[in-house]
Amino acid sequence: MSSVTVIYRSPFETAICSSDAAINIDNPRYPPQIRGMPEDLEGVVATATRLSHVDGKAGRLTIAGYAVEDLAPYASFEEVAYLLLHGRLPEPAERVRFTQDLAGRRALSRLVLEVLHEAAATQARPIDALRMAAALLSLGREESAGDDAMTAIASFPTIVGAYWRALNGQEPVPVRSDLPHAAHYLHQVFGAEPSTERARALATYLNTVCDHGLNASTFAARVIVSTRSDVISAITGAVGALKGPLHGGAPGPALDMVFEIGTPERAESVIRAKLDRGERLMGFGHRIYRVRDPRADVLARAAERFYASGGDQRLYDLAQQVEATALRLLRERKPERRLETNVEFYTALLLHGLGFPSELFTPTFAVGRVLGWSAHCLEQLRDGRLIRPQSAYIGPTGLHYDRGPARPAV
Ligand SMILES: CC(C)(COP(=O)(O)OP(=O)(O)OC[C@H]1O[C@@H](n2cnc3c(N)ncnc32)[C@H](O)[C@@H]1OP(=O)(O)O)[C@@H](O)C(=O)NCCC(=O)NCCS
Repeated sequence: MSSVTVIYRSPFETAICSSDAAINIDNPRYPPQIRGMPEDLEGVVATATRLSHVDGKAGRLTIAGYAVEDLAPYASFEEVAYLLLHGRLPEPAERVRFTQDLAGRRALSRLVLEVLHEAAATQARPIDALRMAAALLSLGREESAGDDAMTAIASFPTIVGAYWRALNGQEPVPVRSDLPHAAHYLHQVFGAEPSTERARALATYLNTVCDHGLNASTFAARVIVSTRSDVISAITGAVGALKGPLHGGAPGPALDMVFEIGTPERAESVIRAKLDRGERLMGFGHRIYRVRDPRADVLARAAERFYASGGDQRLYDLAQQVEATALRLLRERKPERRLETNVEFYTALLLHGLGFPSELFTPTFAVGRVLGWSAHCLEQLRDGRLIRPQSAYIGPTGLHYDRGPARPAV
């Protein structure tokens, strides 16, 4: 069934959808437009954006005009941040000013550090600690969208680093303003200045995941800020949305599968057994991409370069063999459905190679994606209206509430 739904009229265009995913409400009491409604907003265009475009058929991701493969491996995180927040790449003097501004916002307040300390005492998951600390970033500051965005982007690496160290009984590392963003994050987590290769590999990762159309957490952020709430509230909500295993939580299990396989000869039998049991192979398939996720290519090349420069080459080779075997068996099992490698497979390999424990995979995703959330919030505040869809009521009607003899009306 096909339908056309107007979600809201943006300043740019009327946002419409044409979707085959229809809720199957066959009760004749429901009006026809509800019966044809797209399920879970699949295929619905709910806003217009200049920030990024996901072309699932061609396997292309465009970030503010640039193909992800042209931008992510070469630009600094600061350049990409400027691009998304200002709509164009910075001139050299603008880049210097922007870099200094961002670096000047890295330190955490005493209260945030105390909360992280308390959270560590309860062994809270790092992504939960990040959400708690994110909410506190507005304390003691005037609410201002641009400032809030910059502060959140600058603070996320410090929060994750400080929390991971607290969890491991270590003191936080004092912030440094002379390191680029990606290098500073590595310094915050591991307490040592990273090599150029490590910093480059992480910057490539952060750039690759910084924005991806109207994904669930970005949509959550836009909905929150569309009420004219503040950017910190929106970012806090977005962290909550990212935490779910259907969104930001897949790279850990993808890596577990590579470790479980262990040696190339076991790849075929282990993967066949998983598919026989009806399990899904983590790191493969995508809701929107029907071809290989372009981010997987960018990260595969980054991982290849990084592992060749002194990483565990055996693990990289094993992962490649696992990928090839998985793709072959998925084609064999599901010839009618193109299931290709997605971003999570090589995310796991790259972040593991950089020394990140799997508990920090999702928080590290947030360190990159907070840029997209922030840029979307600013865009929504500038151009958007209140996002307020409707629901189809499918509950009962006409029930009678028995007031009882002793309950007078109030
Ligand atoms: C990402 C994902 C949720 C997209 O799902 P989707 O587009 O809605 O795909 P569907 O759920 O419609 O699946 C279609 C068919 O392909 C199968 N399939 C999809 N992904 C699969 C995978 N990774 N491994 C094995 N089979 C898979 C499904 O079992 C289903 O088979 P069926 O028709 O016999 O029931 C799904 O591919 C998945 O679970 N992948 C693994 C988790 C992952 O890597 N997530 C990170 C995404 S970036």
